Amino acid sequence: MPENLPLVLITHALPEEWLTLLKGHCRTLTGPMDATSFSPELASHLPEAEGLFTLLTIPITEKILASAPRLRVVSNMAVGVDNIDVPGCIRRGIPVGYTPGVLTEATADLTMALLLSAARRLPEASLDAREGRWITWAPAGWLGMDLNSATLGIIGMGQIGRAVAHRARGFGLRICYTDPHPDALIATKFDATYLPLEELLRQSDIVSLHCPLTHETRGLINTTRLQQMKPNAILVNTSRGAVVKTEDLVQALRDGRIAAAALDVTDPEPLPQSHPLFGLSNCLITPHIGSATWKTRQRMAELACRNLLAGLAGERLPFCVNPEVYNT
Ligand code: DGY
Repeated sequence: MPENLPLVLITHALPEEWLTLLKGHCRTLTGPMDATSFSPELASHLPEAEGLFTLLTIPITEKILASAPRLRVVSNMAVGVDNIDVPGCIRRGIPVGYTPGVLTEATADLTMALLLSAARRLPEASLDAREGRWITWAPAGWLGMDLNSATLGIIGMGQIGRAVAHRARGFGLRICYTDPHPDALIATKFDATYLPLEELLRQSDIVSLHCPLTHETRGLINTTRLQQMKPNAILVNTSRGAVVKTEDLVQALRDGRIAAAALDVTDPEPLPQSHPLFGLSNCLITPHIGSATWKTRQRMAELACRNLLAGLAGERLPFCVNPEVYNT
């Protein structure tokens, strides 16, 4: 590989075919597939790095940015960028790429899968069947929630929130939503009612989180909010774990203040095996698989490559979270 090509650090090993677009445009060094922090070996190359290709699990901190004086682009293979010190990138004029749109449908599908599983208590029912507790057709066994005419409250009506609303309409759910930017078109398209957060929590049988993790949304669902929910309500989270205060949720599920939770994201992530959430039969947990389909992950990688290559070429990133870097 010619030495004059820019150096790109890729925080995790990825299937080779996902990165074919990069071939011939840069030199790459790759961290281990299961990296949980920025690999020290990769970090030793930060002084020469001109591009970073990152996944959402590794914080790209001020310290990392300060060690990479030649950095010209950070490309995150995710729609969420809460792992990246975006203000630090703005100060340095470094564009940050993300991958909106391509994971909307897969994440909305998983949200519905979690919602249905929790509403019909699939994990408990399946375990009972497998472990010999299915004695007969039980007239009062494994009873769950009727979705038809139940109310779904969507927190964050962005692309994924809307894709969930679209699917939920097919199940006869009544939809309400809260969002910093209520939109009359949404109300018409999904027959969705805008409600302030507190009112949404009071009215919803199912609350589904689709907001990004920001200063405003960190810990949004805490004891106070959980107390505002109905006692038969289900909380679904496919956004970011830290939008929910984990200890408060454990307590609410233990005390029966809400009926169940279905979480694709947790705080911390991953949850240690001894975590109390794993001991609760009314809590379903999946390992952050919202976008985990072949097609979606491939398309995310492709967008991340396109963002990276544009940044290395000094062109505007096709999907940039901090376009203000182009105004200076
Ligand atoms: C994202 O892209 O932010 C998702 O959480 C990963 O699927």
